[in-house]
Amino acid sequence: MTNAPKKPLSTRRSVLGAAVGLAAAACATGAEARGKPAKRALRNTARRDFPVLVGSANALRGMKLYYQDLVLGSAPLDVAIDVVKVVEADETDHSVGKGGLPNEDGVVQLDSAVMDGRTHNAGSVGCLENILHPSLVARLVMERSDHIMLVGRGAYEFARAHGHEHTELLTEASRKIWLRWKETMSSKDDRLAPPEDQRQGRAKSSAERAELALIDHYLEERVTGTIHCSALAISGEVACTTTTSGLSWKIPGRVGDSPIIGAGLYCDGEVGSAGATGRGEAAILSHGSSAIVELLRGGASPEEAGLEVLRRVTRQARRAAAWQPGLVDGEGLPTFGLNFYVLGLDGQVAGVSLRGGGDYAVAEPENGPRHEPLVALHPPIGEK
Ligand code: GLY
Repeated sequence: MTNAPKKPLSTRRSVLGAAVGLAAAACATGAEARGKPAKRALRNTARRDFPVLVGSANALRGMKLYYQDLVLGSAPLDVAIDVVKVVEADETDHSVGKGGLPNEDGVVQLDSAVMDGRTHNAGSVGCLENILHPSLVARLVMERSDHIMLVGRGAYEFARAHGHEHTELLTEASRKIWLRWKETMSSKDDRLAPPEDQRQGRAKSSAERAELALIDHYLEERVTGTIHCSALAISGEVACTTTTSGLSWKIPGRVGDSPIIGAGLYCDGEVGSAGATGRGEAAILSHGSSAIVELLRGGASPEEAGLEVLRRVTRQARRAAAWQPGLVDGEGLPTFGLNFYVLGLDGQVAGVSLRGGGDYAVAEPENGPRHEPLVALHPPIGEK
């Protein structure tokens, strides 16, 4: 039986005390790594009462809607999926589900996975097209097949067989961003973007100006956004899900970390849960989520485990830079983003970030759903 009962508070406090001391000794921030003294104590190690949700910043809206269900005793997987479904269906979020930015052919391909600590089972889908809720299909793969992962056409047919509707996921806003990318990526092809004076020149309504600003924003930085949610129920059971439209303009058929069990998410009913957003290739190469859960198993706190895996990612990026120099900057720091969200069975949580900036979302009884700052291993890109 993998379900671990809730530990008595005294046990959790003593575990916490040991973990904080260990973590404080072991964790070097970006500043520390360059020989400066640490400016702050660990922020994520406060004891939490049950139940707990932790995930990416964009999970907050879903947490506000569904945390109460977890309080009332709903299964952690039900709640985690309800949380991410909010963003899967949100056309204004261009990193997940409907409205997500497409691949280089203009087709939205979704990756998603679920894992249930109660059964230590998982399901996932990769390159799924035209289905609104890939997280639900991933759950179907887990519960209604003997497989773990379905991709492409097979995943789509499986979803259709289970009654999921065919849905166009490319919205007008996403199509315009994609077309602008396509038209401006090279001056040596046959696509012509509208001349800048024609684009900017004539009087524009505020809606048109907002649309242009949105397009420019998404061309400046490639989207690797994703949503992750891990849930710890009052019973002590854990579950998690990660879902995404993946890297914008990806090569058709590219599968990121989100549907890879152990990379984009992992949970173990005896230990805890972890999930990733950001550069999927780095989460796959580090097998980041399962590596974090294994560090938790060894006694690390969530923050310590997350930062340790980010240190590995940094070393791995430096080695990979031998053939892909753009992966690290002049100081040897990764040029990409990667975040992990970590949840221990004792209710401790952490949100950690390779290059800083931004928040993660957490919900627990004392303070409810809210954003907390991610703890950064290195300074944000562009900052010293
Ligand atoms: N982490 C999302 C992706 O790389 O696809």
